[in-house]
Amino acid sequence: MMTSTYEELKNIFIDSVDKSAYVELESAVYNYSVLESSLDKPLKMVLLYGKPGTGKSMLLNKLYHNLKENREIHYFDAPILSEKEFLKSIYEAMSGQAIPEKMRVNFDALLKYCQKLRDKRELVFLLDECQLYSEPLMEKIRLLSDTRVVKFVITLHKTENEDVIAKEHFKTRIWEIIEMSNANEYDLELYIQKKMIKKGFIDVSNNIKKRDIKYIHAQTKGNFRETNKYLYTVFDIYEYYERNEPEKIADKKFSKKILEMAAIRLGYIDE
Ligand SMILES: Nc1ncnc2c1ncn2[C@@H]1O[C@H](COP(=O)(O)OP(=O)(O)O)[C@@H](O)[C@H]1O
Ligand SMILES: [Mg+2]
Repeated sequence: MMTSTYEELKNIFIDSVDKSAYVELESAVYNYSVLESSLDKPLKMVLLYGKPGTGKSMLLNKLYHNLKENREIHYFDAPILSEKEFLKSIYEAMSGQAIPEKMRVNFDALLKYCQKLRDKRELVFLLDECQLYSEPLMEKIRLLSDTRVVKFVITLHKTENEDVIAKEHFKTRIWEIIEMSNANEYDLELYIQKKMIKKGFIDVSNNIKKRDIKYIHAQTKGNFRETNKYLYTVFDIYEYYERNEPEKIADKKFSKKILEMAAIRLGYIDE
């Protein structure tokens, strides 16, 4: 059987941190430019901070792919929680040499190694999901950044009940803090349109009107991950109708009814 249009549409909204899926949004363009220029300042650490689903990983990934040809930049997309493995990865990235399994990198020796490279090299490490790193490892990351040979760009989830950046170790260093937030209606519209148009669904995109965007924004608060989940569900329901009761979706208008059904299915609203 041919893959249905709706199956393709819902697949557009599966979460993935992939540079080919990146779309330019007003807020992301701004944050990206702050991020990129912060790398040229004498800062040691740059913090990308925001709630889950606001596009931090996406931006970090984009930065990596844009810069990797022109500077020494390394991207840890998943946190390396073991201190031994972490230090090893840093050293291997800096030296370009693999370290035998059994050996461990001595932290003081690594610091000295960095200090010797002062004014000769500057490396950027991109660390995603830093809320998962332990305090002692964060402290080592800070000490490494003090050498000014390695600069870290880290992402950190903002939580409802804890102000992570108020923590002592984030206050004391020279930081650039870039706060990511949910999209406003304008950016959400761009996000949805651009994602669909990228995959060739111009007509469907045109059928999503301002009032639909308003409704979607009300359900998802403009959070990209929630919006993905929501639109995935919307097109999943469309797909069901296409297979089973196609007459119900014969109207070209984007269905308010299905938007509501999806919101019920996800528990955004009650029946
Ligand atoms: N600029 C963007 N372009 C395309 N997709 C995006 C963009 N920002 C966010 N997304 C989508 O939203 C999802 C969540 O973004 P992500 O970067 O993983 O958020 P965070 O790391 O803040 O939790 C991604 O899987 C991606 O599908
Ligand atoms: Mg992330």
